[in-house]
Amino acid sequence: MNTIHAGIALLFTPLVLWPVTSSATDRKTPTAPHEFLMKTNPVAATADTLQEAKSLYENRCSKCHGTSGNGKGSATKDLEVKPRNYTDKALMETIPDGQLFWIICYGSDPEATEMAGYKKKLSEEQMWSLVHYIRSFAR
Ligand code: HEC
Repeated sequence: MNTIHAGIALLFTPLVLWPVTSSATDRKTPTAPHEFLMKTNPVAATADTLQEAKSLYENRCSKCHGTSGNGKGSATKDLEVKPRNYTDKALMETIPDGQLFWIICYGSDPEATEMAGYKKKLSEEQMWSLVHYIRSFAR
């Protein structure tokens, strides 16, 4: 290979690698600010709270996150970034409550995912209750 060919090869390498590095598994989920990561869920996980969260979840979240929380809801077929599997205990243990709450509140990366923020639609109490409900899938 002469110098010109080597140069061209180098030039195109990033273009060839790009689709691989931006695959659906390469998440760009923003990390919540430290103050949120430190928060503990202020809502008690009573039967009532969980029941309310269940119906909220089934109305607003299950089409993407799945009724069982497996991330395979009916609306996910065309999503480039799929929701995570909330029944995966090992995975869920790596995500703090405050991170889950913060994403429900403000949404994920709007350029990369369909996860919108619910700050204007739900109360803080409802969002913390949803965190409890999401956790219940991995138990
Ligand atoms: C239009 C589909 C859609 C709907 C509706 C939706 N989500 Fe999501 N959600 C996603 C996707 C896709 C992601 C993954 C985003 C990412 O990888 O950054 C996500 C991420 C999340 C996360 C972040 C956890 C993680 O994977 O790190 C939480 C928590 C969450 N959603 C909760 C909810 C709740 C609660 C509702 C209902 C109030 C809801 N979502 C509604 C598609 C949706």
